Amino acid sequence: MVDSLKKPGFEQLRPGIKVPAKETLLTPRFYTTDFDAMARMDISANEEELRAILEEFRADYNRHHFVRDAEFEQSWDHIDGETRRLFIEFLERSCTAEFSGFLLYKELSRRLKDKNPVLAECFALMSRDEARHAGFLNKAMADFNLSLDLGFLTKSKKYTYFQPKFIFYATYLSEKIGYWRYITIYRHLEAHPEHRIYPIFRWFENWCQDENRHGDFFDAVMRSQPQMLNDWKARLWCRFFLLSVFATMYLNDIQRHGFYASIGLDAREYDKYVIEKTNETAGRVFPVILNVKHPEFYQRLEVCVKNNEKLTAIANSGTPKLLQFFQKLPYYISNAWQMLRLYSIKPIDVTATQGQVR
Ligand SMILES: [Fe+2]
Ligand SMILES: [Fe+2]
Repeated sequence: MVDSLKKPGFEQLRPGIKVPAKETLLTPRFYTTDFDAMARMDISANEEELRAILEEFRADYNRHHFVRDAEFEQSWDHIDGETRRLFIEFLERSCTAEFSGFLLYKELSRRLKDKNPVLAECFALMSRDEARHAGFLNKAMADFNLSLDLGFLTKSKKYTYFQPKFIFYATYLSEKIGYWRYITIYRHLEAHPEHRIYPIFRWFENWCQDENRHGDFFDAVMRSQPQMLNDWKARLWCRFFLLSVFATMYLNDIQRHGFYASIGLDAREYDKYVIEKTNETAGRVFPVILNVKHPEFYQRLEVCVKNNEKLTAIANSGTPKLLQFFQKLPYYISNAWQMLRLYSIKPIDVTATQGQVR
């Protein structure tokens, strides 16, 4: 009894295998794209840089990195209650996101193989990295007596279709934001080892270098397709993807601030730092970035945080679904309005300074 109070109950597919988290707008997605269009892409405008990145991928600096050491071999039952629940959720979300990268890159490497060998090999080697990342996280979940059935996830999750240029904007940002997330946690725990409650964080330093290289690959691919970066549509879409990636992370992380608190981080400060750094990084390739210092930027995101708390309370209230819909409606409308206003904040044009940054 005491044990079941201490350990949060997660639904299980079969003993030890967790039912994947319910899909919402904020959960990590799986992607698919127009593989033929991707295969037809002419990368000659930036082939040299892409070949140099391929050489880096081949060098496989992290070949021996993802090996668990003795520190994992102990009971993790002292991480209990809400912290344990949040911890498992963090591992699951990270594992799903890494695995989503694996599936997409693997499929791209398969479909591009005979048509675009440089890109195909880059995708194959990135899928190698993502498989390691997902596997390492799934083993960590097993330390908490739960893991994900990745085969089941492959078959059961919905796939979102994005045309190739959207895949590039989205994956570029998710790799770079992944880099900043991992390195920020790593540096924080390096300075405050007393908060390192579980060993996995020690792996984040080399790990984030994989994500950084993946991001650089997408940066180079976009440069080989100038039309993805230099017209008015590109500007609008870059803003859209920056905002969706930042808002999704902010809402997710604030909702789980307890996880960040358990490792000594303030979720808001952490997110603001990661957003600022990712935005700055994106300015090396995107023609515009967001004005995240605008006073309304976090004010409006905070309104969405409040709205989401209300939405969760309604969803858990037990009132009939139809009634819930009408109770939720004003908060959905407010969220959409906030996003629209955030989107219309004047962005920062970086094309004038890009030459100097690189
Ligand atoms: Fe990864
Ligand atoms: Fe990655």
